[in-house]
Amino acid sequence: MEKKIAVVTGAGAGIGQSIAVELARRGYCVYAAARSKQRLQKTLALCEGCDVQPLVFDTSNEAEVKQVLDGLARIDCLVNNAGVSIPKKTQFDEVDWDLILGTNVKGYFFVIKHALKKMGRGSSIVNLSSGAAKTGGDFVSLPYAASKGAINTMTVCYARDLAGEGIRVNAVSPGFVDTAMLALNGKEKSYYDTVIPMGRLGIPRDIANAVAFLLSEEASFITGQILEVNGGDIMG
Ligand SMILES: NC(=O)c1ccc[n+]([C@@H]2O[C@H](COP(=O)([O-])OP(=O)(O)OC[C@H]3O[C@@H](n4cnc5c(N)ncnc54)[C@H](OP(=O)(O)O)[C@@H]3O)[C@@H](O)[C@H]2O)c1
Repeated sequence: MEKKIAVVTGAGAGIGQSIAVELARRGYCVYAAARSKQRLQKTLALCEGCDVQPLVFDTSNEAEVKQVLDGLARIDCLVNNAGVSIPKKTQFDEVDWDLILGTNVKGYFFVIKHALKKMGRGSSIVNLSSGAAKTGGDFVSLPYAASKGAINTMTVCYARDLAGEGIRVNAVSPGFVDTAMLALNGKEKSYYDTVIPMGRLGIPRDIANAVAFLLSEEASFITGQILEVNGGDIMG
């Protein structure tokens, strides 16, 4: 059987790196994307022996996204993961909104727009959202939570538009996961073990496994869904 081709953004660190590694180990041909090739060194090392190629673009720059994705022959799976956050505060200015929406909303849109030219029946998109979209988040900033709400809506809009073309679109919505982004919350890691119902902080692989499931044939009748992966932090 022909290998499935997956593009993973933000693959140089954290959750995106784990998704790239997981898909590579499951036999995908993975295009691991980051803002610089240097940021991909560890990912490429972790994927040694697998079929992984680096891609370099800034997801918030449409010209770069177009140039790189136009160069690919086919995309079966797209994982929109690259995201930014800023610490919680009481006042926000336009610079904050432009940074967050530019990457977390427009960036997702740019990547989907240009990836879709290479996607056909049976292909699939997974967007990384956040539980903060539903709850507002205890520690995250207002623009970040709002951007993740937009991602949930975008996921459903695209799922509806693309269902007839046989392209599935879902989101994985992580709770607290041990990455560099989590440090912006300003809490000790041990804190999360006390508040998450399942008694531990999430690890990137918890999220990667959920993404891999939604991209797989086992999920072939699932579209327009937001899958919460959080050890019970948000239920229902
Ligand atoms: N960790 C959590 O607790 C948590 C919870 C809920 C949702 N999430 C979501 O999960 C996703 C991954 O987060 P993470 O925790 O793994 O964060 P992370 O460790 O900070 O990694 C984010 C990645 O995105 C990349 N990135 C940021 N802006 C980019 C841009 N404009 N173009 C290309 N790449 C860009 C970063 O690249 P650079 O190295 O170049 O900065 C980095 O590799 C995000 O969408 C985040 O919102 C995380």
